[in-house]
Amino acid sequence: MKNQLCIVLDFGGQYNQLIARRVRDWGVYCEVKSYKTPIEEIKKMNPVAIIFTGGPNSVYDEKSPHISKEIFELNVPILGICYGCHLMAYTLGGVVSQCDNSEYGKTEIISKQSAIFKGVPEKNIVWMSHGDYISRVPEGFKITAYSKDCPCAAMENAAKKLYAVQFHPEVTHSEYGKQILRNFLFEICHCKGDWVMDDFIANTIKQLREKIGSKKVVLGLSGGVDSSVAAGLLSRAVGKQLTCVFVDQGLMRKDEGDFVEETFTRLFDMTFIRVNCQKQFIEKLKGITDPEEKRKTIGREFYKVFWDKIREEADGGFFAQGTIYPDRIESGKGNESGKGSTATIKTHHNMVKMPEDIQFDGIIEPLGDLFKDEVRKVGEKLGIPKELVWRQPFPGPGLGVRIMGEITEEKIKILQEADAVFRDEIRKSGIEDQLTQFFAVLPDVRTVGVMGDHRTYDHLIAIRAVTTDDFMTADWAKIPYDILANVSNRLTNEVEHVNRVVYDITSKPPGTVEWE
Ligand code: XMP
Repeated sequence: MKNQLCIVLDFGGQYNQLIARRVRDWGVYCEVKSYKTPIEEIKKMNPVAIIFTGGPNSVYDEKSPHISKEIFELNVPILGICYGCHLMAYTLGGVVSQCDNSEYGKTEIISKQSAIFKGVPEKNIVWMSHGDYISRVPEGFKITAYSKDCPCAAMENAAKKLYAVQFHPEVTHSEYGKQILRNFLFEICHCKGDWVMDDFIANTIKQLREKIGSKKVVLGLSGGVDSSVAAGLLSRAVGKQLTCVFVDQGLMRKDEGDFVEETFTRLFDMTFIRVNCQKQFIEKLKGITDPEEKRKTIGREFYKVFWDKIREEADGGFFAQGTIYPDRIESGKGNESGKGSTATIKTHHNMVKMPEDIQFDGIIEPLGDLFKDEVRKVGEKLGIPKELVWRQPFPGPGLGVRIMGEITEEKIKILQEADAVFRDEIRKSGIEDQLTQFFAVLPDVRTVGVMGDHRTYDHLIAIRAVTTDDFMTADWAKIPYDILANVSNRLTNEVEHVNRVVYDITSKPPGTVEWE
């Protein structure tokens, strides 16, 4: 069964993916497409709803993105947001002008009776970000909301099902934004809300079985959320025909490799191959202190081991990976999934090309249509443990970027122990859900201390905890002093060779989340 489709036409707005996620949260399948997508192609996709995103331009800029008038003749309801709202007005003969007072941030609007504002109080707060406004609406349109500085905060031509809002309903700062999007989807477009995760799982398993038949599938499992959920789905579809290759370079957190192996072999029917290669990695990393050089070495070794194992396992069949929808949008791959042996492969280090001598019949990306939060929902439904489904981001080079200076077996052990104690204490203190990412770092520093009657000269542990929505910027977390005190006590008492603890109070920028 094919789901109803809402298309988000992207005019360069920063919130394009957020709009799609919000629409999907309402149970309507949604895809982001470039504004350059030919009208014929849009017609073929048979959307039930179209949304124009915002964008940084003014409609009168020479290089501003435009759209053919034909889109308004498709008889598909359209919602224009911010730049999309100006574009609708401009294309249909209205006038867009520069604001005397631009509006940025939370703004009160007064809305009139309209299907788009159903259930929304007359006065409500929205998120504005614009320097232009609609000074004259096109023929057939009426204004349905205004603010102190903007005479047209929303307009509509209900007969033609064309709606436009100057503000951003997709951001949480718009108090009734979710309701407004819901109104568009259900009151105006009459969507069925047929995008349900249980159906997704059942349909995907069916499609995977049809595609794979009796062939073999090989998947690179990193222990991260995406590859774990992809492995779960594939196992449900084809069981033992699935081989998961898990490369443990010895730079994971304490006991993490064992946990991944134990979980997958217990929960899922599959062939699980774990390649343990810590010794090989430490050997290659000997004497290297430069952060970039370390990253490169870890990446290079990882691919070597990984591709060697994949090569051994590949005899036709399929190569599967946990690519998700945002990866495809960002790599410009849109909807086509890669075919043949030169496909771009997502590993936890980067997007890389598969060596040409490795031959598969095709690439399978069972999560290629999902956003991260949807992947997590699927993972939970498949019974994958919370620790994996809600796993914090963990860098591909692992603890390698959290050990400053040369990486040695001893340092890995100290950091693994310290990190485990820190995580345990945070969990016990009940603040885990308030932190986005937290971990320990081992700087290349020793300091003097005293233990009993002895002078010590030992390692320093730095602890790092941040809160962030998008990792582009991050705040250091204000962990209460009593919790920090417990962490410090436990680290110095329980972890051998640690005699001092510091807390990193740097936000990003100017710092980064990781230390290297
Ligand atoms: P930074 O340190 O750049 O980190 O502020 C932002 C987020 O990215 C994660 N990170 C990585 N993830 N490979 C990854 O898969 C890497 O090389 C890498 N470096 C940083 C980091 O943990 C944080 O969540």
